[in-house]
Amino acid sequence: MNSGYFTAGRRTGASELLDRLEHAQSVVVFTGAGISAESGVPTFRDPGGIWERFKPDELANVRAFLANPVLVQGWYAHRRQLMERVKPNPGHVAIAELEQLVPKLTVVTQNVDGLHARAGSSDILELHGNIHRTYCIDCREDARAGHDESNEAVRCRYCGGLVRPDVVWFGEMLDPDVIGRADEASREADVFLSVGTSGLVYPAADLPLVAQRSGAYVVEINIAPSALAEYLDDCITGPAGEVLPEVVDAVRRASRG
Ligand code: OAD
Repeated sequence: MNSGYFTAGRRTGASELLDRLEHAQSVVVFTGAGISAESGVPTFRDPGGIWERFKPDELANVRAFLANPVLVQGWYAHRRQLMERVKPNPGHVAIAELEQLVPKLTVVTQNVDGLHARAGSSDILELHGNIHRTYCIDCREDARAGHDESNEAVRCRYCGGLVRPDVVWFGEMLDPDVIGRADEASREADVFLSVGTSGLVYPAADLPLVAQRSGAYVVEINIAPSALAEYLDDCITGPAGEVLPEVVDAVRRASRG
């Protein structure tokens, strides 16, 4: 399917975005779970999403982890295995290709799946961590001992502390360096694309508006309008894996003159 955004009708917004991208010095692509949906990674809040089937209270906070490390480690091991099996989709690939067509492109992602790096993007800020990394809650070493199917908690090979995934849980602060750099990139951006996020989780959800207040042209790409949509400059309704390749093809054609 072709969303036809850049081919049929040529809405004012389409040529505006194209024009902005052609002249942009700095672009931010801000992504949420929706960018990875077409790779087969479930989103959180769509029908049938992760938080409909599992309770964040029992899995995604430090209290739950300390109360039942085996359960939480097992759940993350399961999700990690899923994310190892899936592949970047045309949306991830298009973002990596856009990086070659503009002077500077930063990916700011809420996803922990590592798919942007696998697609070839090079400047990536992972606001919520990365599920493929783990660390010891006592000595902070990267101490992944793997996950066995036994009923024992996975412990640090250096000090015996509990090993947790390197992701941000509910109630935890984002890495100040990472959110600081995301904030700076958003302020500097000429074009800011908000892709596949519900815009409900802060402080990440502030970034599109930070960018807009600093003068960026902010466009959402989503299968349905998000909580932020009404405040942004334009919204493209469609799957990221179809819309993004069209956007990038249009930029490529325009840059060839
Ligand atoms: P959500 O599950 O809240 O939202 C997913 C968004 O993607 C929705 O707006 C969908 O409409 C959209 N979507 C689904 N499929 C799409 C597709 N093929 N193309 C484009 N858009 C699509 O996920 P996030 O906004 O990423 O936090 O959630 C934010 C944070 O909440 C996550 O990082 C996670 C979660 O709790 C932590 O784990 C800290």
